[in-house]
Amino acid sequence: MRVGLIGVGRIGMVHAGTLAALPEVEPLFIADLDGRRAAVAAAGVGAVAAASVTDLFAARPDAVVVAAPTPEHDALIRAAVTAGIPVFCEKPIADEVAAARRLVVDLARARVPVQVGFQRRFDPGYQAIREAVGAGKLGWLHTLRACTSDPAPPHAGYIPTSGGIFHDCGVHDYDAIRYVTGREVVDVYATGSNRGARFFGEAGDVDTAAAVLTLDDGTLAVCTATRYNGAGYDVRLEVCGSAGTMVAGLDEHAPLPTAPPSPWPGGTPYPGFLARFSTAYEAEMRTFLAVAAGRVSNPCTPRDALRAMMIAEAATRSWRSGRRVAVAEVERARR
Ligand SMILES: NC(=O)c1ccc[n+]([C@@H]2O[C@H](COP(=O)([O-])OP(=O)(O)OC[C@H]3O[C@@H](n4cnc5c(N)ncnc54)[C@H](O)[C@@H]3O)[C@@H](O)[C@H]2O)c1
Repeated sequence: MRVGLIGVGRIGMVHAGTLAALPEVEPLFIADLDGRRAAVAAAGVGAVAAASVTDLFAARPDAVVVAAPTPEHDALIRAAVTAGIPVFCEKPIADEVAAARRLVVDLARARVPVQVGFQRRFDPGYQAIREAVGAGKLGWLHTLRACTSDPAPPHAGYIPTSGGIFHDCGVHDYDAIRYVTGREVVDVYATGSNRGARFFGEAGDVDTAAAVLTLDDGTLAVCTATRYNGAGYDVRLEVCGSAGTMVAGLDEHAPLPTAPPSPWPGGTPYPGFLARFSTAYEAEMRTFLAVAAGRVSNPCTPRDALRAMMIAEAATRSWRSGRRVAVAEVERARR
């Protein structure tokens, strides 16, 4: 299968390594706005560097992976679909809800698949919980607790371009909650706080946030996110029901020293998302090639991405206004 990869920054390099190692990928074309970066990445994994994105499309790949920055996603998805090429795109599908909504409407007529990169759907822990919930093993659900805690903030210049903590960090939890429960989120009450660097507040953002989500069957979900988790990278989802509880992300790497001290979990925390989700990133790429070949159905559609984005937007509106915000309000809004 001829595969094109667009953008080889942090996440694109992960996908480059995965794709280049798959025997069915031959050749792998790599394009980046920074031609030198594309050349170095291609040489490193034995791929073919394309001089530009236009050249990459001209090579007629059978599938395209988009790992360019968020503002490029909408146009690159449209370019691939117009050329009839199945496309995998990193989240989010667009930089604003209105643009994402237009894209989803336009893609409804598309005949080629568009898979979106919410990699927690490929983590064995999240998958096992989804299976257990679907089989009724946890009974009816009452409480979900999700956390996305980064050990240290990204550089100051990133924050104004991030979309804010609910879109940048929380959105993964919102998608995971939809994925494991199979339910929709009805409304969100969110709040946030700044006790770290001033650049969060200056960018109109917070460094720590909490959101309470109500699902359409009445289940409550509490989602927290922070940029300052000194103990280490911590991403977990606890799903509690009338008959049982399951937790994803609670292994020996969890940065959760107990009081009083106990030997478990005593491992080294993951340094960040790339290490924590390495197997999930690999599984999602393998699945995308199967989706592109028509062997399996799409595990994460643009509509899924839009739903998660609307929850993040409702959380953002709630934090700004102090109101409990219905996701339907975001759905109805023109902008
Ligand atoms: N699913 C996840 O866990 C996850 C993790 C990280 C990033 N992401 C998403 O992936 C995307 C990329 O993030 P990143 O952190 O790798 O960014 P990055 O800045 O590290 O890399 C982006 C790369 O794209 C290149 N680029 C910029 N404009 C381009 C264009 N028009 N055409 C081709 N290449 C272009 C840049 O030169 C750079 O090499 C973002 O949308 C982000 O939200 C997802």
